[in-house]
Parts: sequence; C-alpha cells; structure tokens
Amino acid sequence: MDEGGNRNWTYSEYLNLRQLLELQGEDRGISSDEMHFIIVHQTFELWFKQIIRELTEVRDILCQVPVPEDQIPVAVDHLGRTTEIFRLMASQWTVLETLTPQGFLSFRDGLGTASGFESYQMREFEILLGLENSERFGGIDPLDSFRKMVDNGEAKKEILERLESVKDLPSLVESLMKWIERTPIMGSLFGSEDDQEVVSDYIDSHLRAHREICNLASKSSEMMAARMNAAHDGAISFLKPDGEISRSRAGLLFIESYRELPLLTWPRKLVDAIVELEESMVKWRHSHARMVERIMGRRIGTGGTSGVDYLDATSQYRVFKDLWSVRTILLKPDSRPELVNSDFYGYNSSK
Ligand code: HEM
Repeated sequence: MDEGGNRNWTYSEYLNLRQLLELQGEDRGISSDEMHFIIVHQTFELWFKQIIRELTEVRDILCQVPVPEDQIPVAVDHLGRTTEIFRLMASQWTVLETLTPQGFLSFRDGLGTASGFESYQMREFEILLGLENSERFGGIDPLDSFRKMVDNGEAKKEILERLESVKDLPSLVESLMKWIERTPIMGSLFGSEDDQEVVSDYIDSHLRAHREICNLASKSSEMMAARMNAAHDGAISFLKPDGEISRSRAGLLFIESYRELPLLTWPRKLVDAIVELEESMVKWRHSHARMVERIMGRRIGTGGTSGVDYLDATSQYRVFKDLWSVRTILLKPDSRPELVNSDFYGYNSSK
C-alpha cells in the first residue's frame, strides 16, 4: 500500500473473495441443493444492500427544499437501477424452481423457524419507501419480531436501532409527495397569493369535465350510471379528501395531464420511474409467491405465516398509492381543462 492508501489490489483482495466464498455453509456438509438455496438468498441480500443505498440517495435528494433541479435526473437514474435489480431478482426465482418439492423438503426441517420474513434489509427498504404498518397484512409491525429476537438474543440490537432510525426519517413517499405538492399548477406557484384560487379553479374544471364524461357513459344502462356515479365520487374524494383540495394530488394530476410540457419533463420522468419501480417490486413479490406455491404448495411458512396466501397478500401492497390512483381519474387530452400560462412551462401552444 502506498502512503495515500492506494494499493495494487488483486482481484480476490478487492472483492474479499476468499471471505465471501467461505460463507455458504459447506463446513456443515450441505447438499448441492441446499448450497444453491443459500447462494440465491445471499445474492438477494447483496442486492437488497444495494437497493437500500440507491433508495436512500433518492430519499435524500427529494427531501431537500427546494430539490436542486440538476439532482432530479440523478434520482431518476438511481430509481432506474433499482427497478432493474428488482427485475433481475424476479427472474432469479426460476433458478430456485429447479429445486424439486422433495429436494426442498429434504433440508427444510433444518431451517427451523428461519425465514425471509426475518430479512431486516427487506424491512429497511420497505420502511424507507414508506410502507405503513397499517397497510401490512394484519397490520403487523415488523419491528415487533425484531424486538422479540433482540430480547431472545437472536438478533443484534444494532439491527433494531437501524430500523428504528430509518423509521424516524422522512420516507421516500413522503418526500416525493411534498415535492409534488410544490409543482406550479397552471403557472401558479405553491404558496403564492392566489395559488389556492388557481388550483381550486383547475380542480373544479377537471371535475366538471370528468362529470360530463361520466354522464355520457351513464346513458347506456342503469348499471353503468351507478358505476359512473361511483367513479365520479371517487374522483372528488381523491382530489378533495375531507372536502379540502389536496395540493399534492392536484400537482400530480397536473403533471400527468400535461405530460408534454417541457418544464414537466423531469417531474414526469421521476413519477414514471417510481411507478415502474413499484410495479417491478409487485411483480417480484408475485413471482416469489408462485415459486413458493410450486415448491411447497400451501403449507405454512417456516416464519409462521400462512405461506402462499400471506405472500399473495403482500403483492397487494402499494406504497405510492396516489401515483396509481391518479390514473383512474385522468381525461383524454381533448377533454382536459385548457392550459393557461402555457409560456410558464416552456411551451408556446395552449393545448
Ligand atoms: C425454496 C425457496 C423459498 C421458499 C419455499 C420461501 C418461502 C417463503 C414463505 C412461505 C414466506 C412467508 C413467511 C413465512 O411464513 O416463512 C417467505 C417470506 C419471505 N421470503 Fe421466501 N422463500 C424462498 C426463497 C426466498 C429467497 C431466495 C429469498 C431471498 C432473500 C426470500 C425472501 C423472502 C422474504 C424477504 C420474505 C418476507 C416477505 C414479506 O414479509 O413481505 N425467499 N418465503
């Protein structure tokens, strides 16, 4: 090593390869099936580590006020990489599917109560994203099981402390929605004098156009009329929860409705990147459940959950709910409210 800490690494030193390759449990005399089971898990955990890094960077960028504009593309890049990791992991379940049900049963008892349920890195990125306990299956607090494990000496206190500290910080979804809340709407700046009035006019004209479209569709049958009424009520309660306009949802509606405006290019790309990320996570969760169903049917999990039913329930989780919901109330370009202050968005046409 030279004075500055630079060093002529060998490949193996740089990667800590010797240590890494000693961690698969061969000293316990495991079968090839079990070694493959361990390697797939370890690979996922390494990717989880990278995911936490990437998402932390995104959260840190988005929780600044204001968010420096040149950092939005950086956030989009981190999100894009995370999505690719989830896609890669989703396709890795097929490697596990080479394990026959009996091949798995032959070492399953040895796992005891060990389960992916105890993956603290998975919990960390869920918390970092902003998955609420109330949204989890059975409203469980995943930190409870780590508290118990710490009490029983089965997990280190530092793990629990780390999860708690992530929980105390703003989540990615909170930071994102606060940023979206500040989107200029119809050229009106967040917090400016007549902003409330401009936003309210915009939302009312969107809702009027939505009502008209629902009215037209209602003509075909009574059943359709009931559905359209419910759809319109849904649009109102989305945009005006508790009767008051939600500016973050109004901002999101604006970004999605006027996607072609040059000034909205990066906000739109960021929103798209988040939707793509959540979609890739959902698909990853879904393929985990299918792999588990194929290998062990509907038996209960080693972690004590119902198994496949539990995993299927987790694929219903949505952290970025508003980003999904806004899609339900969008209007085709010709029906959306006419854009005012188009110059503000760097576009010299009003449509
Ligand atoms: C034959 C292979 C596998 C089987 C049969 C299996 C089965 C299960 C089951 C039944 C659960 C529900 C919790 C429980 O009661 O145990 C679970 C949860 C979980 N598994 Fe797997 N799994 C397998 C492979 C993997 C791999 C390779 C990973 C990668 C790290 C993984 C990560 C997880 C995670 C993170 C959870 C918690 C999910 C949540 O609570 O949202 N599993 N697994």
